[in-house]
Amino acid sequence: MAKFLDSISKETRKFPPKESFKKKAHIKSFAEYKKLYNESIKNPDTFWAKQAEQLDWFKKWDKVSSWNKSKLECKWFEGGKINISYNCLDRHLKERGDKPAIIWESNDGKSKVYTYKKLHKEVCKFANVLKKRGIKKGDRICFYMPMVPELAIGILACVRLGAIHSVVFGGFSPQSLQDRIDDSKAKILVTSNVNLHGKKIIPMKEAIDAVLLKCKSLKYVLVNKRKNVATSMKKGRDLWLQDELKAKDIENTCEPAKLNSEDPAFILYTSGTTGKPKGVVHTTAGYLMYTYLTFKYVFDYREEDVYWCTADIGWVTGHSYIVYGPLANGATSVMFEGIPTYPNPDRFWEIVEKYKVSIFYTAPTAIRAIARFGDEWVKKHDLSSLRLLGSVGEPINPDAWLWYHKVIGRNKCPIVDTWWQTETGGILVTPLPGAVDLKPGSACFPFFGVKTNIYKENGKPAKANEGGFIVVEKPWPGMLRTVYKNPDRFRKTYFSQFKGGIYFAGDGAKKDKEGYIWILGRIDDVVNVSGHRLGTSEIESALVSYKDVSEAAVVPYPHKIKGDALYAFVTLKKGLKGSDELVQILRKHVAKEIGPIAKPDKIQFAEGVPKTRSGKIMRRILKAIAEGKEDVGNTTTLANPEVVETLKKERV
Ligand code: PRX
Repeated sequence: MAKFLDSISKETRKFPPKESFKKKAHIKSFAEYKKLYNESIKNPDTFWAKQAEQLDWFKKWDKVSSWNKSKLECKWFEGGKINISYNCLDRHLKERGDKPAIIWESNDGKSKVYTYKKLHKEVCKFANVLKKRGIKKGDRICFYMPMVPELAIGILACVRLGAIHSVVFGGFSPQSLQDRIDDSKAKILVTSNVNLHGKKIIPMKEAIDAVLLKCKSLKYVLVNKRKNVATSMKKGRDLWLQDELKAKDIENTCEPAKLNSEDPAFILYTSGTTGKPKGVVHTTAGYLMYTYLTFKYVFDYREEDVYWCTADIGWVTGHSYIVYGPLANGATSVMFEGIPTYPNPDRFWEIVEKYKVSIFYTAPTAIRAIARFGDEWVKKHDLSSLRLLGSVGEPINPDAWLWYHKVIGRNKCPIVDTWWQTETGGILVTPLPGAVDLKPGSACFPFFGVKTNIYKENGKPAKANEGGFIVVEKPWPGMLRTVYKNPDRFRKTYFSQFKGGIYFAGDGAKKDKEGYIWILGRIDDVVNVSGHRLGTSEIESALVSYKDVSEAAVVPYPHKIKGDALYAFVTLKKGLKGSDELVQILRKHVAKEIGPIAKPDKIQFAEGVPKTRSGKIMRRILKAIAEGKEDVGNTTTLANPEVVETLKKERV
């Protein structure tokens, strides 16, 4: 019988942190990490009670944690009273009132700085607008916005009142928005008249006007005026956000609600790469605790840092690591409206230089896209302010890691490859940068309090280097509490694969002999070649390790003998062209790197591959193309549906 998931990668390189980095780090050695980690697992309540002292409480908790496995009810800091916005704003006013909390870089290169004082005031005003429009604790507010400061301000205003925000990524279709408004029965939608994106001015409000008429739950639509352009406003329902904020009766202060630890903070819909979206529910104290602590340790945060996470607040990364984690720590967080390639492919580095960013957190898709344009774009800029880099969202191919390390990090910045999910609230597996010798492509070790394991299909732990499912054996404070109004889906998706309250993440992974965790990709994407079940990420990484390749996606297609044959879509570095000769070179290269079994049977060169709006490769569609299907399924969730026809035409 084939093992569940075979691992074939031979990656062995190691990158220890520099002594100078270690010396100043919160956690200075592996032994120190291990000691704290062991304590956090052995006595979780003692560990978390101590950490929770770093937050500001209106009333301390009675019980640190409880876990009812049969009801799947998990609670943290029960009996406590707390407010997320108070912890992100008010508590910093005395010492950091004039420190920038958010530095906003607009699409066209202008900056706007919100100090803690100013942000506090804006959040209070926004909260007062919501109150004036009848919003109470527990009401749902939907946001469908570009990356503008009003989005961060708006969600902080919600948690100030105990209203539940549901942010829908601004690039989603009107229908997706309607589904999410209907599911959560949102009373208010906050949106923008337009979204500025590179050279484009994308109408936002106009695009959704038709579906908004069908959203029965909506009482008001608050419209942010991003640009002074004609915008149709429905009388009685649509209100200009700026007018509302300016109104005479809107005060500059607003008492933060004393919320219960387990009061819901927000819903965030996730569809992964398949299926109907799930409303992932996060609650107040545990989520705040978890994002606060992961931000502090994973990014080894220091008071003088300028931190930039390039994600969109429409995704969990933006929630946890643009807004809540950084602000709870009193950090300066850069927020960017535009796109990495506008006006040129060096926009990221221009911003790093402009604000002297010291911590930079992005996604492999962005790294690969930028690397494709060549090093010259990077070299134009002084990146000496950078001291730490991060990656999130997909497995990072070792070669993309090495490029990031060398060209962006100038061989001195550690890279934290952080594995987590919308459902996990914050980072679960990651190196702590002063404590761990890095291995390119490995997310390394579990964070404090996170008891991960790799299981085989039968629920037994996998041996070293044996692939399996990554699971978490005990709840952690940032864990999702349920799927909104669908506890059954919560149970089925996350807790039915293994018995006994084991969280099933849906990712394949392996642990090597030294305990390093390697994420092998989504279980849905596993391919079965001659009885070996392979995660796609290792084969893709082997392709990307060839000098001409910038991105690769591998999918199966049926083969009489092997079960699955491998079909690879390969994007070359800018300016290069594919050829039959290169196909042969790449096949040989993969055979040499990881073995003949992983040799792609077919290789198609592609300018681009279909991706979700958060930048993940959509292998489901590539699979349909590889299988020769005309109907490749639903493409409305793609960021770049236009590539599909080309890929179909150029099928090999
Ligand atoms: O497959 C894993 C991949 O992204 C999934 C979670 O996606 P989402 O809920 O959109 O959250 C993204 C931001 C946390 C995971 O199940 N993933 C995320 N980070 C990594 C990763 N795969 C490999 N390595 C990572 N560092």
